[in-house]
Amino acid sequence: MNVFINKRIPEIGISMLEKEGIHIIFPEKEDLSYEEWLQYCRNADAVLNVGNTFTYDKTFFEECPNIKMIALYSVGFDHVDIQEADRRKIPVGNTPDVLSKATSDTAFLLMQSVARRAGYNFQKVKDGNWETFDPMDALGQELYGKTLGIFGLGRIGFEMAKKSQRAFDMKIIYHNHHRNQQAEKELNAAYVSFDELAGNSDVLSIHASFSPEQKDLFNHSVFEKMRSGAIFINTARGGFHNQKDLYAAIVSGQIWGAGLDVTNPEPMSQDDPLLQLSTVCVLPHIGSATMEARNGMARVAAENIIAFSKREKLPYCANPEVYS
Ligand code: DGY
Repeated sequence: MNVFINKRIPEIGISMLEKEGIHIIFPEKEDLSYEEWLQYCRNADAVLNVGNTFTYDKTFFEECPNIKMIALYSVGFDHVDIQEADRRKIPVGNTPDVLSKATSDTAFLLMQSVARRAGYNFQKVKDGNWETFDPMDALGQELYGKTLGIFGLGRIGFEMAKKSQRAFDMKIIYHNHHRNQQAEKELNAAYVSFDELAGNSDVLSIHASFSPEQKDLFNHSVFEKMRSGAIFINTARGGFHNQKDLYAAIVSGQIWGAGLDVTNPEPMSQDDPLLQLSTVCVLPHIGSATMEARNGMARVAAENIIAFSKREKLPYCANPEVYS
């Protein structure tokens, strides 16, 4: 079996595949054009996809009829047309669980950075603007006893809620497609409507998987309902928030600030006015960027491919319907 891997991943994944006699095709250069990428995919049975530069849509499946399986090096699968994959009985593997701690750590880090204007203050030091003690300058806010609202309480949201509760005794509310019994039992999390989530959260953190109908879900009309001291955190997908509306909401004092690990577009423009605000902290999509998580992702992606090569079900499959 030939597997095309578009970028280097941790060695553990490569050696697992090689041990199984799976032939790996690496590109000759890092940044491929769409046509070059397609050409590699045409010559493979499966693809191990790193990043989300290109989309696995109808055109892709028509252009690459040899592809029988897609192994994503991510938990998110918004760059794959799952219906098209289903129709062709192509399983799509993803890498949940192994990155839940790292990604929720990133949300937790952003929450504190925004509350205490850490990015802004760090920049001041770097710029040589560390001034004498001023009791009133650049004050932050404390998180103790506040309410954390989670949009999409799954594995990552659960970890974020657990940490926030343990560290800051935060009350947890959430809005989901489904009730999360574990979170209700272990964290006393309360299920609320979307509007209640917006209106009652001191910190609102997104941990849902993204689909195109949710584009700009967090827009002017939602920010307007939020508390004036509220912090907005997005470590899921940039498509969830309208960036101009977010800027307007912070500047007008409708909300306190925002911590973003994902933006729209990515990479974010250096000129984006959000970057000028002291209560904004932006990271370049590093949610799962720990050695532990990235090794885990390489292992799970390889396990998915190996299972497929043995005609077994993938341990982690974004479209388990293909097996029905
Ligand atoms: C994921 O795993 O979905 C990360 O956001 C990387 O794309």
